[in-house]
Amino acid sequence: MYNVRKIKENLYWVGANDRNLANFERIIPIPRGVSYNSYILLDEKNVLFDTMDASAGDLFFENIAHVLNGKPLDYLVVHHVEPDHASNIHRVMEAYPEAVLVCTAKASQMIKQFFGNGFESRMMAVKEGDTLLLGKHNLTFVLAPMVHWPEVMVSYETTEKILFSADAFGTFGALYGPMFADEMNFDRDWLDDARRYYTNIVGKYGTQVQMLLNKAAGLEISLLCPLHGPMWRENLGYFIDKYQKWSTYTPESEGVLIVYASMYGHTENMAEIFASKINEAGVKELAVYNLSHTDCSYMIADAFKYSRILLVAPTYNNGLNPLMENFLHELAARFIQKRTFAIAENGTWMPASGKIMRSIVEEMKNCTVLEPTFTIKSALHPEQLSDMDTFINQFIHN
Ligand code: FEO
Repeated sequence: MYNVRKIKENLYWVGANDRNLANFERIIPIPRGVSYNSYILLDEKNVLFDTMDASAGDLFFENIAHVLNGKPLDYLVVHHVEPDHASNIHRVMEAYPEAVLVCTAKASQMIKQFFGNGFESRMMAVKEGDTLLLGKHNLTFVLAPMVHWPEVMVSYETTEKILFSADAFGTFGALYGPMFADEMNFDRDWLDDARRYYTNIVGKYGTQVQMLLNKAAGLEISLLCPLHGPMWRENLGYFIDKYQKWSTYTPESEGVLIVYASMYGHTENMAEIFASKINEAGVKELAVYNLSHTDCSYMIADAFKYSRILLVAPTYNNGLNPLMENFLHELAARFIQKRTFAIAENGTWMPASGKIMRSIVEEMKNCTVLEPTFTIKSALHPEQLSDMDTFINQFIHN
């Protein structure tokens, strides 16, 4: 049965929550699920904003039919063609033969790639600044390439000042009743997943997000409707400030992130002692992750949060522990910048992991990589503790 939410007069959420999918994009764990947001705006011309993931099945069509209540669907606006929003485009176009599909030229090419040319004659390509009059409401289209694919656009409804922001300002986490961020304790319950969503999905495209934020800065926004997570009608500046920081790779905290890999516990012991000593040295905000246990999407998110990152890993096959190597490549792929790295290694006969970690992070833009590498052979011993203190002192005061 339909499950529709009224967002405001004439605007309805016709989306769905997904608590079955284990990994977003079949890669990133989403223990709190995710929502696929789709909206209908009713006016003289009725508009559906985006479709959704195939998993929503018939519910999506029951939602649309319930809101339209026999009225025609005049437009389907497609902001983004990634299948978590676009899987039902062909079904919508078949179910509503009068509907015109509105999207960018790039999106129309992708839609043909996914679905063929069956409804090409009903597609309307729009450019930056094009408008669509719906009656009382009026849409202006704003291109947002690479937030998160090249075809992306957002729509601004000028009468009620609603920004339909595509993936931007989205978050992991299924909706659980409340629909607006101001009805939740977003900072406590959602921010970590919002950061993990942003950094893992869009983190690579900070420059392009900055371009969108600059365009949005010229708009008065009373309601923000993203494709994932809650809608925003209050305190938008809070979330926009987070996006400013994340997209400029500006740390939110002067704290320390410790990421370690360990095979038998000796490197782990070193990482734990580092955490204790760094805290005793005055750093109050720390996060410690074991790569063998936690998915690296959490560490990528915290690498965007904290200004200092300590990497601790054993040598493996005369090289670097592969979990650490994967994490660093994933981090480098997000173009992380403006961080201070420190490196600690372990190796029983020929420590080599530090050199490899260093070679990867030294390629990162505007980052400082402290010398020397802190090295243990097999296990940390008490006579190394004063060297550790010196190493920490340099790290936290750099
Ligand atoms: Fe939520 Fe890039 O799709």
